[in-house]
Amino acid sequence: MEFERPNERKPTILIMFGATGDLATRKLIPALFHLFRKKALPPLFQVVGFSRSFLTDEAFRGMVSEIASRLPGSQPEEVRTFSQLFAYQAGRFEEVEAYQSLARRLGLVDKEWRTCANKLFHLSVPPRYYPDILARLSDSGLTKPCSDKEGWTRVIVEKPFGKDLKSAQELDALLGKLFREEQVYRIDHYLGKETAQNVLVFRFSNRLFEDSWHRDSVESIAIQLFETEGVESRGEFYDGVGALRDVGQNHVLQLLALFTMEHPGSFDAVAIRRARAAALKALSLLTESEAVSRTARGQYEGYRSITGVDPRSQTETYFRITGALALPKWQGVPIFLEGGKRLAEAKVEVTMTFSHPSPCLCPRAEAGEHYKNVLRYQIQPHESVKASFWVKKPGVKLELEERDLAFDYKHAFPEGSFLDAYEKLILDAIEGDQTLFVSTEEIMASWKFIDSIITAWQKDVVPLTAYAPGSIGPS
Ligand code: BG6
Repeated sequence: MEFERPNERKPTILIMFGATGDLATRKLIPALFHLFRKKALPPLFQVVGFSRSFLTDEAFRGMVSEIASRLPGSQPEEVRTFSQLFAYQAGRFEEVEAYQSLARRLGLVDKEWRTCANKLFHLSVPPRYYPDILARLSDSGLTKPCSDKEGWTRVIVEKPFGKDLKSAQELDALLGKLFREEQVYRIDHYLGKETAQNVLVFRFSNRLFEDSWHRDSVESIAIQLFETEGVESRGEFYDGVGALRDVGQNHVLQLLALFTMEHPGSFDAVAIRRARAAALKALSLLTESEAVSRTARGQYEGYRSITGVDPRSQTETYFRITGALALPKWQGVPIFLEGGKRLAEAKVEVTMTFSHPSPCLCPRAEAGEHYKNVLRYQIQPHESVKASFWVKKPGVKLELEERDLAFDYKHAFPEGSFLDAYEKLILDAIEGDQTLFVSTEEIMASWKFIDSIITAWQKDVVPLTAYAPGSIGPS
């Protein structure tokens, strides 16, 4: 795979808060290893892990090597070289001395490299630690760029970004004290998925569908994020969050924004983020009675016995919402949003159902038969686009049958050409491209909508229905 001018990338240090956690081990370290193999990282690059566990540099490198050596095709020599990019700073997030040591460590790297390196802070820790981390970082002077031209500082913030509108605003205010919006990279890793990135190309670089992309032709839009896996070892975290906040407020709504936003005018980050935000701002908030008639929530059987979960937990592991966008283009088009864990099937899919043509030159249309086209845009596990259309069945009679036009990403392009979401997002943060990161406007708009539902759910007006693991969710 070709990368643009990787050698021109400036010396960069990635400071990973939560370096021994789940995200670092499952996603970040593998993504960095792939970028390293593809020679996409800056020539002078270092990762400093920061976590509470007491580890030496050597032990941390051992952990990194173990992760990298399990990845397909990795060679011992490259794993060894890769692990040398890593160093470790043990410390509690509230402990001032740990940040002083971190600052000294980074200063030594700058000295060795004879430069002021860029510093990318990655926060992958429970949000309750953000205030401490951000305040200590600020006190240590580490978040200050060296100058306008050299040594930028940026921060990548993982989700959950708050737990409601109020806490999201507070977190934003906190970040705003240290960083300008251009320095803040809020992650929704769905935006980094190839199939999600392709939505704008699919819509706006092709004439085929976009002309019909509005209420006159579209009957409904459905977004489904189904997982077969359960909450597993994340009981404590998940029980305080629930499915709607975990994947609804972010992944599902971001997909909705991509599918319903207006033409952004260009591929410019500001224009795209603004267009996504405008779609999210148009989401009609639900009143309590609308929440009763238009939402459902469920919990899979067995969830309450997971370690860390309250045995009487009322947290949902499934949600279903019928929403609407208050935009002339989408007036009256129902939007079905659905997500859940431990369901029968793992799939993330957006389905646009186009209405029966009018007038229709369709046999049996008078008898009430409906001829609709359905576009199935599959984000995962199959990365494909399928459009159903009607064909004349061969033979004497004029009879119609529904068939698919289909495109499959993995069949169409060679294996090595795909970039994992985190590879793309880390590179973009280094490059300073915020297109695939969520703006403050988008975050606040999505929380407003989610808050309107959660407020009703908290009053217990929508029953929490149990469903069997491996089923299609509550009926
Ligand atoms: C995360 C959620 O943001 O997304 C998880 O916290 C969920 O609960 C995951 O499983 C789904 O992401 P992906 O990329 O595996 O579909």
